[in-house]
Parts: sequence; structure tokens; C-alpha cells
Amino acid sequence: MTAKIRSVLVTGAAGLLGRAVVSTLNSAGHRVTALDRVDAPVPDGVRPVVDDLSDRERLEHLLTGIDGVIHCAAYAIPQAAREDIVFTGNVTATTNILLAAEASGISHFVYASSQSALGLAYAPEIIPPDRLPVDETHPCRPREGYALSKHVGEQICAMVAGRSSVAVTALRFPVIWAAERFAEHTAKRLGDPAQAAKSQWAYVDLRDAARACRLAIDHEGQRGFTLYNIAAPWPFAMAEAEAKLAIAYGTIPMRAGWHPGQAVFTPERARQDLGFLAEWRWTPEGIERIAPE
Ligand SMILES: NC(=O)c1ccc[n+]([C@@H]2O[C@H](COP(=O)([O-])OP(=O)(O)OC[C@H]3O[C@@H](n4cnc5c(N)ncnc54)[C@H](O)[C@@H]3O)[C@@H](O)[C@H]2O)c1
Repeated sequence: MTAKIRSVLVTGAAGLLGRAVVSTLNSAGHRVTALDRVDAPVPDGVRPVVDDLSDRERLEHLLTGIDGVIHCAAYAIPQAAREDIVFTGNVTATTNILLAAEASGISHFVYASSQSALGLAYAPEIIPPDRLPVDETHPCRPREGYALSKHVGEQICAMVAGRSSVAVTALRFPVIWAAERFAEHTAKRLGDPAQAAKSQWAYVDLRDAARACRLAIDHEGQRGFTLYNIAAPWPFAMAEAEAKLAIAYGTIPMRAGWHPGQAVFTPERARQDLGFLAEWRWTPEGIERIAPE
């Protein structure tokens, strides 16, 4: 449906995803407010705000005249700080911005969640999923503070959406890969098969991740709380897919019709509801743009 949201606050706007989201929204004609706790340059036409999301009343004031929020601010990996700080920092920031959005009558809220909410990506050992493919109904069993913070963040989203008129969309990203770091990202993944299995051979190109945020904030049909996996539909370097799955996971139930050449961490729901289809396919040889069907 046609986008009506015109004025959007992006939190974590100085970070990897936030910067891409700000540029994408700005180019699409939205009025963008870019919030981060660090002072960073913003594109022409974007309003910068330095804030650490610690004061809810200040946030309510800031949200006056704003239609939508895309919340990317977080400690974005378990190692970003001490575990208790990662957990409490992320949960407090998400609570404050969501409750401020609810009090301010914001219509659309998008939460940058993570595949790690499942509790598999950062587990010390490979834990087989309960079934394949891994969709949004798979249980979450976080085992460290970052994963738990993303899982709790989703639950705060569901609570606010369930009791208010704010439509809240949580987007679960696997690792987000930036094209300018192609060699680094691919070497790391190829050099660590166990991590590849924990991450379900999943990735999403930064441009696709930012576009998913825009599709979610623009989607007029959103109501209540919705959760989406946002990933490329092509597993990275899974040439010997069946063998790797068997070694990594053992024998687990597979949905009829699903086969290991398809995404393990499946973005099918986002395709159906949001019309999201990744455009950037990564292989060990390079990145290619896949034309939409
Ligand atoms: N990068 C990935 O591979 C990846 C994968 C899955 C999910 N995510 C999620 O996407 C979001 C963005 O990740 P990223 O890679 O851009 O992280 P990043 O570390 O590059 O950026 C995060 C930004 O948030 C800001 N920030 C953190 N806490 C804040 C607070 N309390 N108040 C204001 N600003 C604050 C930081 O200053 C930073 O600029 C995060 O929520 C992360 O959990 C990222």
C-alpha cells in the first residue's frame, strides 16, 4: 500500500544499520530525525539529535510531530560491553523508546531484532534447531545477555502493540554484511564452519536490511505486533548442503517440500506480508544483484 508515514525517528543512527536506514529513508523522501548517543555527521536534510534514550519524558517531547520510529540503537554484539551492561542497556533503551512512542501516539514502530534471539548464533556449541526451516515460530532459548536482550525487546514490542494503537514490527536480522567489507566477512564465515552452522548459513546485505526497515515503516497494513526474519534466501557457501546439515545438526524434522539448498533461516513471511525479497546475493566469488521476479 502507499506509504503515508512521512516523519521518522531513527535510533542508533550513527551505527552500521542506522546510517543505511537514514540514507534510504532520506532518499525516499521521508523527513528523518537521526538519534544516536554519539555525535556523527548526517546527510543533508536530516535532523541530528544526540541522546542516549535514558529519559522517557525527553523522548516523548522529541517524538512530537513524528509518525514512525525505527529503533536500531543497541549494544549490537555480546562482546560490546560487560554482559549485564549489554542486557540492561538494550532492554532499558528499548523500553524507554517504545513507551515514549506509545505515549506520543506514534503509528508505526520498527524494532531491529536479531536472529540471535533464538539463542543459537552465539551459543558456545552448535545447537540444532528444533526443525527446518527456522521460521518466526521457532522457540527462543537465549543463553547470553545479548540474545536475551533482543528476545526481551521483542516481548516489549508485543506488549505495547497488544495494548495500544502502535503497529510494531520486529525484524530479525542475521549478520548484516556491508559490501565494502566483502573480503573480511566472507573469509570469517568460510574460516569458521561451526559459526556458519550456528548462524544457519544466513546473512543479509546491508542494503537489503535497510530496505526491509523502509518497507516495514511504510507498510500501511501493519496492525498489532509482527515478527519477520529478514535474510537473503540463498544460504552462503552451502554447496555440500545436505552433508553439512547432517554433520552440524544431525537428524531433525524438515517441513515437507523444504530442502537444504533453500534458506535455513527463512524469510518467507516477510516476502508474503511486506513484499521483501533480498536483492543482493553473496557467494565466495562476489556479490551479484538478483533482479526481482
Ligand atoms: N550488525 C549486525 O550484523 C546485526 C545483526 C542482527 C541484528 N542487529 C541489530 O541491528 C541494530 C543495529 O546494529 P548495528 O550493527 O548497526 O550496530 P552498531 O554498533 O554499528 O550501531 C549501534 C548504534 O547504536 C548507538 N547506541 C547504542 N546504545 C544507544 C543508546 N542507549 N542511545 C543512543 N544510541 C545508542 C551506538 O552509539 C551506535 O551508533 C542493533 O539493534 C543490533 O542488535 C545487527
